[in-house]
Amino acid sequence: MIQVKDKKFEISITSEVLQEKIAAIAEVLNKDYADKTPILVGILNGSFMFAADLVRHLTFPHEIQFAKFSSYEGMETTGKVKQLIGLTSDIKDRDVIIVEDIVDTGITMSNLVPQFKAKGAKSVEICTLLMKPEKLQVPLDVKYCAIKIENLFVLGYGLDYDGFGRNYKDLYVVCD
Ligand code: IMP
Repeated sequence: MIQVKDKKFEISITSEVLQEKIAAIAEVLNKDYADKTPILVGILNGSFMFAADLVRHLTFPHEIQFAKFSSYEGMETTGKVKQLIGLTSDIKDRDVIIVEDIVDTGITMSNLVPQFKAKGAKSVEICTLLMKPEKLQVPLDVKYCAIKIENLFVLGYGLDYDGFGRNYKDLYVVCD
């Protein structure tokens, strides 16, 4: 059990299981992108650990960039998605893989995918570590999802609660 600010969290998915699932999703990407040279775009802040572990398994040539958007305040979505830091590479005619920590309501991704397409990307796919299918509020095609979880707030492995708790190597779920 750990405490982060006013909430208690218990372990939900161990680092070992996270790493197994990441290796498995990387294998799928390795098959699908074997003859392509995509740009991976890690969505900050939450995806930094997942992106770092994911790319170490990839066998096809690729670039990686990070972009930052805001959508969350505390534990509730604001429903607003704002671009904070843009891409520095031209993604016109490129295959883009968005690397995300978690798809919750899907609002962030449903805003981002059209933004990437508007910049002329040849293809745009989502690769997320986690997804809460019950919470999805918008139609969204998530081609690559490593782990589906229940509709509970999680933290660790890059994910935060009000800015804290990103450092844990395991994934924790709120319990109090
Ligand atoms: P969405 O737009 O509702 O799909 O929210 C996506 C973003 O919300 C993610 O990139 C996370 O930053 C944040 N988020 C959603 N659920 C959680 C959670 O359980 N823990 C921590 N962050 C979350």
